[in-house]
Amino acid sequence: VTTSQTPAAAPASPADSPLVRAARGLPVPHTPVWFMRQAGRSLPEYRKVREGVGMLESCRRPDLVTEITLQPVRRHGVDAAIFFSDIVVPLAAVGIDLDIVPGVGPVIEQPVRTRADLERVRDLVPEDVPDIAESVRLLVAELGPTPLIGFAGAPFTLASYLVEGGPSRNHEHTKALMYGDPDLWHDLCARLARVSGAFLRVQARAGASAVQLFDSWAGALSRADYLRFVQRHSADALAAVADLDVPRIHFGVGTGELLADMGEAGADVVGVDFRVSLTDALARTGGRWALQGNLDPALLFAPWAAVEPQVRRIVEEGRAAPGHLFNLGHGVLPDTDPDALTRVVELVHEVSAR
Ligand code: CP3
Repeated sequence: VTTSQTPAAAPASPADSPLVRAARGLPVPHTPVWFMRQAGRSLPEYRKVREGVGMLESCRRPDLVTEITLQPVRRHGVDAAIFFSDIVVPLAAVGIDLDIVPGVGPVIEQPVRTRADLERVRDLVPEDVPDIAESVRLLVAELGPTPLIGFAGAPFTLASYLVEGGPSRNHEHTKALMYGDPDLWHDLCARLARVSGAFLRVQARAGASAVQLFDSWAGALSRADYLRFVQRHSADALAAVADLDVPRIHFGVGTGELLADMGEAGADVVGVDFRVSLTDALARTGGRWALQGNLDPALLFAPWAAVEPQVRRIVEEGRAAPGHLFNLGHGVLPDTDPDALTRVVELVHEVSAR
């Protein structure tokens, strides 16, 4: 895209984009909007390019990663692309034997539960993931002024998959390890923080304009356990990109009691799920961080007339925050009508235009 074709109101560069500005608490022309899991199964064009290609394999092919990352940007006109990958990609890249099973999620061949198992969680070096840096560079060139968000899983969420061996409702083996052998737990999380931080750093150095640390399952913890067992490791992962001038978003599900603690781990933006209103989230975080969220993804199955006032309400509530990145409260559900997402983007832009 040449300058002459760029609409007058469009930002000149990703660093100047509504998403990056809002994350920094700067004035914006409109509230930026993107969706967790915007790249993926709700799109027919995604299902088409993924035909016959395994999830992990697709994450390591720059041709597929770039195409899939760009699909929702083209279709919905969102204010950011999220890098197409998965939180377990860096674990696979350091040699942990795992698979992403359709309809289930990540499954680890041999769970990590003993000190001897720790050796399998070695450090990630850029040479492990040259394709990731290549994909980011290709995307940044294609995206022009639209920012690319890089991401990684937070140590607790990664540890849960490794210790349980797969998805878990109660995280019982994880908590048993945490309480039964705190030294081993902290050593495991320290290693995972290095892997996560290195994965974020590869993406940021290759040109991602913001990063998000997903601690999807942190809501399974009490606040006391979060502070004692988890926060410092997430802080270490976020600190790995502190010198790179990329805003950092920190998100979890069911983390209404942890919002300020997640901000204090070193975030610029605190992600809020749909269980806590942005108004309450703002009170709980004292205006110290920009907020991201928080339309309930299940609401997108309701008639538009019911969705519309909720989108308007969230935009209004977000105006009181130092910055607001409109998003869902968790990822796009696979059977979501993609047109509902496009309408949300249009409405957010319309009602928030300054
Ligand atoms: O669009 C995007 O957000 C970018 C891509 C992305 C994926 N996974 C692709 C994916 C991102 C950011 C993730 C993060 C991720 N992966 C998280 C944190 C976000 C969250 O939802 O809380 C977690 C917990 C995972 C682990 C994981 N990987 C799960 C739970 C699943 C779903 C399993 C299923 O099939 O129901 C996956 C697989 C996965 N990751 C898919 C996609 C598009 C679906 C696989 C497919 O299309 O074959």
